[in-house]
Amino acid sequence: NRPKILAFAGSTREASYNKLLVKVAAAGATAAGAEVTYVDLRDLPMPLFDEDLEAKEGMPENARKLKELMVAHDGFLIASPEYNSSITPVLKNAIDWVSRPAPGEPGLVAFTGKVAVIMSASPGGMGGLRGLVHLRSILGNINVLVLPDQKAIPQAFEAFNADGTMKDPKQQDAVENLGAKLSNVLSKLIA
Ligand code: FNR
Repeated sequence: NRPKILAFAGSTREASYNKLLVKVAAAGATAAGAEVTYVDLRDLPMPLFDEDLEAKEGMPENARKLKELMVAHDGFLIASPEYNSSITPVLKNAIDWVSRPAPGEPGLVAFTGKVAVIMSASPGGMGGLRGLVHLRSILGNINVLVLPDQKAIPQAFEAFNADGTMKDPKQQDAVENLGAKLSNVLSKLIA
């Protein structure tokens, strides 16, 4: 019974460092036995959350798709940039949409029991660490258990090789280990 992990980045940018980072962690999770699905939020554009729009049209198609994907997986690997010391609007907007219960669904049950590992990469010296404080809190709010292990990669513009691996083998190991940790924790939970 392999754990199922959904991996995504909080950036839609084509050359996103966070997309590279989450894929390194995903490789670690795969090596540890997990079945990892990568999703690019650029492929799931959704309108800015608006309660009137929700009342009129319900959950947008792409938000519903993302929520279904999240519900179908046991855990999440998420790497998000830090924008003005918080998470990106694209990630917050996606979380706000998927956090809304379907008609008849009681409260925030959809993500209860899901486990996440979070990380960030930034050209700056702190690696986006301040955004992770917010991301941890937001995920906790929708009942996702966020593991204490996390990683913020500073000077991201010089952290990656052209093939997406990390230049510093110790960093590569540490990020792969984060993915493996999530896989191992989930293996025990779903056993
Ligand atoms: C940033 N960036 C940034 N970086 C950081 O370390 N702390 C911050 O508070 C911010 N704030 C910020 C705000 C806005 C509006 C933008 C567009 C950018 C820089 C950011 O880390 C950089 O653009 C990363 O490369 C974005 O991540 P991806 O797209 O490479 O994954």
